[in-house]
Amino acid sequence: MTTTSQQTDQKPELIDLHPPAADMEQLVRIGLNRCPRQLPAWFLYDEEGSRLFDRICEQPEYSLTRTEIALLKSCAAEIAAAIGEGVIVEFGAGSAQKVGPLLNAIHPAAYVALDISAEHLGKATTALQQRHPEVPMLGICCDHSTLTAVPEHPLLRNQRRIGFFPGSSLGNFEQHDAVHLLRHFKQLLKGGPLLLGLDQPKSEVRLEAAYNDAAGISAAFARNLLHRLNADLGANFDPQCFQYQARWQADQQRVQMALISSCDQVIRIADDRWTFRCDEPLITEYSVKYSPERAVALAQLAGWRWVRRWHDPDDDLSLHLLEPTD
Ligand code: AVJ
Repeated sequence: MTTTSQQTDQKPELIDLHPPAADMEQLVRIGLNRCPRQLPAWFLYDEEGSRLFDRICEQPEYSLTRTEIALLKSCAAEIAAAIGEGVIVEFGAGSAQKVGPLLNAIHPAAYVALDISAEHLGKATTALQQRHPEVPMLGICCDHSTLTAVPEHPLLRNQRRIGFFPGSSLGNFEQHDAVHLLRHFKQLLKGGPLLLGLDQPKSEVRLEAAYNDAAGISAAFARNLLHRLNADLGANFDPQCFQYQARWQADQQRVQMALISSCDQVIRIADDRWTFRCDEPLITEYSVKYSPERAVALAQLAGWRWVRRWHDPDDDLSLHLLEPTD
């Protein structure tokens, strides 16, 4: 097959709605004043953080991404038959390595990728466009949890919207926020369905290894948050003075990832100061795991009707199909 150079060089349009530095600084102040201290998980994904996350996905202990891609490949035809036609809108597309089987099976009118990292998103949609020259594509750099509406764009006009939220990214949100986010997606999708990928609870040993890999990539990913705050907001964190920790909290059905201060230290941003005591944590993210039963309950709480799920042979994770209740 031959393609013209014009097709292979095609770069999808990118709309940049990244929160401005002043908003980020405000969120960091709020997060550092929380007890325990905790920042929104999307702060982990600057350009370097997105690169490190891709490396986490290649670690032998972290099987989530590989398993979900294999599941999508094996079920793509069934998913396409169940889901119908429209434009695919992916929330938190990252390197956009998962949507390929859906593009082949659904033949969507367009693919719209939302992600917080503009550089990463630009590379991802450009690479994907080369593999799928027939699908019109659009990138939107944004925090999808606060995006009031998907921007008006010809590719979306009069199209049914198919939401795609894979990778168990919803697990970053605590229960109340997860319900809020799913309600919010219902608004953004204007009546369209949502395909939601959720990881399931498994043994503590497996989970703690997955989030603290032997090569140290998970630790580097968390520490990069501090480098980022230094670079973008002029903070003075010394990343070497924080130890990375990942713990399965069975009562909450979640992995808590944190940077633990290894001494008493004072952090400065502009004129403000925060004292970290020795052993005090800064929570970098949660990864909540959902049993199929909990996923159904969560969907209902958020105004979605659970339709069905697909799972891998070991039943490690699920792709849930949700339709809005009206
Ligand atoms: C992108 C939120 C799904 O929770 O598995 C992986 C993030 N952090 N290793 C997850 C993550 C460290 C990941 N999510």
